[in-house]
Amino acid sequence: MSTIDLAVIGGSGLYNFPGLANPARHAVETPYGAASGEVVIGDFAGKRVAFLARHGESHTLPPHRVNYRANLWALHSLGARRVIGVNAVGGIRADMGPRVIVLPDQLIDYTHGRLTSYCDVDGAEVKHIDFSAPYTESLRQSLLAAARTAGIAMIDGGCYGATQGPRLETRAEIARMKRDGCDLVGMTGMPEAALARELALDYACLALVANFAAGCGDEAEISIEEIFAHLAAATAAVPPLIAALLQG
Ligand code: HPA
Repeated sequence: MSTIDLAVIGGSGLYNFPGLANPARHAVETPYGAASGEVVIGDFAGKRVAFLARHGESHTLPPHRVNYRANLWALHSLGARRVIGVNAVGGIRADMGPRVIVLPDQLIDYTHGRLTSYCDVDGAEVKHIDFSAPYTESLRQSLLAAARTAGIAMIDGGCYGATQGPRLETRAEIARMKRDGCDLVGMTGMPEAALARELALDYACLALVANFAAGCGDEAEISIEEIFAHLAAATAAVPPLIAALLQG
């Protein structure tokens, strides 16, 4: 087993990890089926980094069909103990517009029909994890410090609302989420965070704002082309941020 200093799960717009040297690909069999693809482990900023593309390297898996259990199991079985989930999101709060990077500290789960636990296998021990703080605070603090070192602007805190997708939300759904206290909306934040906690992994979500959520910006409609253009811009900050984290 290789020792992994950090695992990164790439979301929409991040299908490989730029700068990962000496990459080796690992196809991991898990008791939960196939992960989204091979885990690529390599050297980055003097450390061992594992990368997995959540939607597959050609973006073929929609959010509700991602095998979140297999993905986290694969990373854990390769030796990862710290995981950063990079997630494209829509911004609900006025200061969370396109290209802004947010480090959420809370979430609300609106997804349904996903396999949300490792406990629903016959004979498995039932674990009730504490999920009061869904993201690992020490990892969040390390990421905030890394952002300061690298000169990358990042908003500390916010509530991530996880929706089912793959469609975007209606204005009424976003208005309800706003009343609920959500600042961001994305489709892949859950059950990933809860499964990470079940495996006792340190886990944080790096949310890259691709667009204003429905009804939150000036546009009558959300353009998918614009989403990917904004994502490409925000994604450029990920490698320098991770380098500062690993060197910190
Ligand atoms: N809603 C849900 N998920 C998203 C959005 C959105 O507006 N933008 C990027 N991911």
